[in-house]
Amino acid sequence: MNIAEKKRAKFERKTEKYEVKVHPQSSRLYHIEISKEAIAAFLETVSKDNQSVQHLEYTPYARLIIASYLLDQVGEDFGELLRNIVHDRESGGFTLGLEGVTENTDEYVIFATAISYLLGTPNHDSMSGKYYARFSVQDTDSSDSYLRQAYRLFTLHTDGTFVDEPTDWLLMMKMIEQNARGGESRLLHLDDWKELDMYVNHPLSSHKFTYKAPKSKNVDQEIERLTFFNHNNKPGVCFIDQFVYPESIEQAKYLRDLSNSLESDESVLELELPVGDLVVVNNIFWLHGRAAFEKDPNLNRELLRQRGRFNQ
Ligand SMILES: [Fe+2]
Repeated sequence: MNIAEKKRAKFERKTEKYEVKVHPQSSRLYHIEISKEAIAAFLETVSKDNQSVQHLEYTPYARLIIASYLLDQVGEDFGELLRNIVHDRESGGFTLGLEGVTENTDEYVIFATAISYLLGTPNHDSMSGKYYARFSVQDTDSSDSYLRQAYRLFTLHTDGTFVDEPTDWLLMMKMIEQNARGGESRLLHLDDWKELDMYVNHPLSSHKFTYKAPKSKNVDQEIERLTFFNHNNKPGVCFIDQFVYPESIEQAKYLRDLSNSLESDESVLELELPVGDLVVVNNIFWLHGRAAFEKDPNLNRELLRQRGRFNQ
């Protein structure tokens, strides 16, 4: 194990209730396994308390109450552990799942809510009008962005580019997957990108680009964003090719070349995420996207997403 890998293994641990390991696909990520008994006990408490997805949607404090039910099972330190991993520049991400204890998608939403409220506070998702969104990718699609277009690569980007609020982290959970080949989440840690320095040191890296959302996002706002900015003395990134509006050919070429450079980087990870598992990444120094699916008329995949901030 070299020094970089040792640094990345610093959150590895095993308790009676859970185990934290370096992710089998990437030494940048951790994989956390909560014991089946703890998950079952958590779901039982939730159900005894008559908590439902609708109740969580309507009553914000209930989301923190169910987060406390998870802590009751796995220990008070668990929330701090998750936050420390997502803050940690060497890593910044983890995967975690329900270990097959349930296949009920309402329970998936409840579990994902407990995790997101241990991380901080999810932002309002304008697309769904809730604190989370579920969206499916199928054979046909009539939307106005690449989010639901199955057979195209969804290029690497960060979330929250066109909203005026911090988006510190992103959670994606696999809810349903049928007849899906391909479509993996693609992830790139900013510090693994070979040409990072070249784009950070380019004069246009400190240009404020205008971002506008397409209609389906229900965000009627324009916002100016730096592509690279200082984040704890290291670069942070804000970029999505679909919603940025350059004003010159030179700017357009900078954005195109940046996107191409990200896409072709050898460190891009194609994450295998089973149904019932979720991935959380720091949205300041991880980029995410999606591989194309193979054509299938019965393709059906649904993800849940939450984006949010750390509490101060
Ligand atoms: Fe995204």
